[in-house]
Amino acid sequence: MRNRFHSLCPYFAMFPEAFAEKWIAHLTRPNDLVLDPFCGRGTAPFQAILMGRDALACDINPVAYCVTRAKIVTPPLGAVRRRITQLQRQFRAAAWESVRRSLPEFFHAAFHPRTLRQVLFLRSALRWKTSATDCMIAALVLGSLHGESRKSPFYLSNQMPRTVSTKPAYSVRFWRQHGFVAPERDVFELLRNRVSFRYESAPAPRQGIVLNADMRDLPRLVPDRRGKVKCAITSPPYLDVTNFEEDQWLRLWFLGSAPHPTYRVISRDDRHERPDRYWNMIADMWRVLGQMMARRAHVVLRLGGRGLDSERLGRCLLAASAFSGRRVSLIDSECSPIRGRQTDSFRPGATGCLSEVDFWFQID
Ligand SMILES: C[S@@+](CC[C@H](N)C(=O)[O-])C[C@H]1O[C@@H](n2cnc3c(N)ncnc32)[C@H](O)[C@@H]1O
Repeated sequence: MRNRFHSLCPYFAMFPEAFAEKWIAHLTRPNDLVLDPFCGRGTAPFQAILMGRDALACDINPVAYCVTRAKIVTPPLGAVRRRITQLQRQFRAAAWESVRRSLPEFFHAAFHPRTLRQVLFLRSALRWKTSATDCMIAALVLGSLHGESRKSPFYLSNQMPRTVSTKPAYSVRFWRQHGFVAPERDVFELLRNRVSFRYESAPAPRQGIVLNADMRDLPRLVPDRRGKVKCAITSPPYLDVTNFEEDQWLRLWFLGSAPHPTYRVISRDDRHERPDRYWNMIADMWRVLGQMMARRAHVVLRLGGRGLDSERLGRCLLAASAFSGRRVSLIDSECSPIRGRQTDSFRPGATGCLSEVDFWFQID
């Protein structure tokens, strides 16, 4: 059975676990350190620890951090169940009514009042930055916060995609046009169900490290891991394709951000429309890899971009690798079409990135 923690929460532009599994098996041995500096939903670090490797991960987006941490620092099932019961006992619906009323129109169309009061309480009560148990519960809420609720009872919102949070005005218009109303869900009941479902799979046998940080700060934040990484498997933001901060705005709100989409508050790298800026970011990535990677180590990059073919991507990547200060050789590359769901969920009008390319480098 596929490990159920892998799909804890969908994330835009995520790569499948088979991709991480293939490269970890091919390029590393047990106890090697695997790095993903743009970890998203944490597939590479989670797969690494499942396969008996050590994992170091980083992402600037708190949603990515929360979901990855839940997977690689997983609390015991009993602790999660006890905490849900404790939270339910503490919950007082009336205390959240005025906060609920003060929210923008989107929230009233997106969530049933009873559900929204519970979501607001959990948003305030969960100490997801400091407690592994609360982090798991927050990740479970994030995974259910929005989605195809007309088809599945495990989503809290009115009908929405589960990968990206649609913009408020668009969502409200869409629900009105179709006469869709928010479903009434009991969040505590749903959480109990989701906990039982996820923990059908065994949590990973060891813990990994994940940081909520800009990847440029990795060498400073984990100096003891410098020069120790045997393999980096990662997928940086693509050139001019999407913006992770905007696309995750509702989940970011649950973790404490503004009740509307923001742009460039969290990350300046999420969407570079201009190639020069984009390649500066990729050069920064190589600078970091140059400091973090062990001798004769491997780097696997999945990359795409508007208006970039695989040959040009390869040339630009190799040119940027000079910033690592190390000798880098391209061993292989493979181009694959972006399939079904991911293409659908690229933002409207975002044509031109129909394929992505996997690059395998050796760094001496
Ligand atoms: C293509 S996604 C990675 C998806 C991931 N491979 C997965 O399977 O979920 C790129 C990630 O880079 C993150 N990011 C953007 N700028 C960053 C930065 N300066 N440092 C670290 N992470 C960053 C985004 O938040 C996003 O999660």
